[in-house]
Amino acid sequence: MTKNEDALKKIIAHAKEYGFVFQSSEIYDGLSAVYDYGPFGVELKNNIADNWWKSMVQHHENIVGLDSSIFMHPTIWKASGHVDAFNDPMLDNKDSKKRYRADMLVEEHMAKIEDKIDKEVKKAAKRFGESFNRDLFIETNPRVAEYRNNIEEIKKRLYTSMDEEDMEGIKKLIEDLEIVCPVSGSRNWTDVRQFNLMFATQIGSLSEGANTIYLRPETAQGIFVNYLNVQKSARMKIPFGIAQIGKAFRNEIVARQFVFRMREFEQMEMQYFVKPGTEMEWYNFWKEARMKWHISLGLPENKFRFHDHIKLAHYANAATDIEFDFPIGFKELEGIHSRTDFDLGAHQKFSGKKIQYFDPELNESYVPYVVETSIGLDRTFFAVFSNAYTEEKLPDGSERVVLHIKPALAPVKAAVLPLTAKDGLPEKAREIMDKLKFEYRCYYEEKDSIGRRYRRQDAIGTPYCITVDHQTLEDNTVTIRERDSMKQDRVEIEQLQGIIQLKLKS
Ligand code: GAP
Repeated sequence: MTKNEDALKKIIAHAKEYGFVFQSSEIYDGLSAVYDYGPFGVELKNNIADNWWKSMVQHHENIVGLDSSIFMHPTIWKASGHVDAFNDPMLDNKDSKKRYRADMLVEEHMAKIEDKIDKEVKKAAKRFGESFNRDLFIETNPRVAEYRNNIEEIKKRLYTSMDEEDMEGIKKLIEDLEIVCPVSGSRNWTDVRQFNLMFATQIGSLSEGANTIYLRPETAQGIFVNYLNVQKSARMKIPFGIAQIGKAFRNEIVARQFVFRMREFEQMEMQYFVKPGTEMEWYNFWKEARMKWHISLGLPENKFRFHDHIKLAHYANAATDIEFDFPIGFKELEGIHSRTDFDLGAHQKFSGKKIQYFDPELNESYVPYVVETSIGLDRTFFAVFSNAYTEEKLPDGSERVVLHIKPALAPVKAAVLPLTAKDGLPEKAREIMDKLKFEYRCYYEEKDSIGRRYRRQDAIGTPYCITVDHQTLEDNTVTIRERDSMKQDRVEIEQLQGIIQLKLKS
């Protein structure tokens, strides 16, 4: 098992044990790439969503919200291009009967070559000790150069075939690389076929003549088709944005990526409508603003990078991914796309309704351009959760697992713990709980030793534990223990709200 696989396994196990994420339908052996959020997971996810909503809608006077439906008129997906072009190249192994994404098989093959480069680097670092220059070694070592050329060649063949929708070319690449099925170990592959990612279902009863409709694969189209409704009803002037949080569905063929790639997931999207010609200015504005937001969640700057798209989709004139260093490596967390007037223009054409903005300053009408920011809520949860997960060795030799989540996002803000379950301590602790629980999500617990209860709260990332002891009954003071430093202070009950409030702002 590689270091990364080991880290991911630990994170998945922790998420389950402490009530963050469960495999969907687990008692029926689970449903692949579908997950449920447990008691603390749902709190963390809601806190992230709430933070995003505030940063978009509350903090920008010119951005308003929307909650559009999952089912929409089927022509919407024709107009948006999803019916014809929202495809992944797939192939089956005839022996194991397992289906794979062809491009992912090739990408996994490239990752294995990257691992070989890493091994060479580590070996050399050991050999040369202090004097080792990593960059120079990578530039000059012949074996590493061969591996790197190999990767470049594979990339070129893969991406050219993908761009040209050359399924035979992708199959030939898989054959040439001698890629085997991870389950059967054989190279007995079917041809590569395009596979549409949308889930279809029927609306209406068969007797009425049922129609095929799709579960939305992105929330954005609900925003585009409501553009006129929102602009008129909320009297919005360009530039303005529409923000939405909601479920999206894609029939992904994947394995072992936890909540990174799911079949049912949540998106937080914002479409920003601008005057044609000003889109690059806004694209750059949102690139910067979105990166700042990620850092504001307490995630380290060095775990982020932009990946600007060189080859652009037909509707975009600029696009970038904000990538995060997940336990599965650097991967897309958010996409920022300058989508021109493609979507509004397409809906205008397919619906026959005029979708335009009358610009009072120019005294003319136009179809606005759109810059979108599109982020997965589940991927943000994964980023926050995996980044927070820490195994610590303590000065006394013991160990703890702690989630160093930014306090404002923590599922529980304070745990109220009577030292023992007798002598009137639970009653006093309940009084405190009743005061605090209307302000913050709090947690009351009296079972087990205080040390074990602290550990449990560390494991779910609770910033403060408030312990009620016998002295509390005498002088109305409690101990308050801070999660990260584990420092304990004696404070008056009256001070608790102020202390917690201050922490939530940090
Ligand atoms: N409207 C643009 C759009 O949907 P996308 O890059 O396909 O763009 C946007 O998706 C974001 O949605 C991604 O950056 C990712 O965070 C999230 N996302 C996409 N597919 C996902 C999946 N299968 N599981 C979880 N999140 C996903």
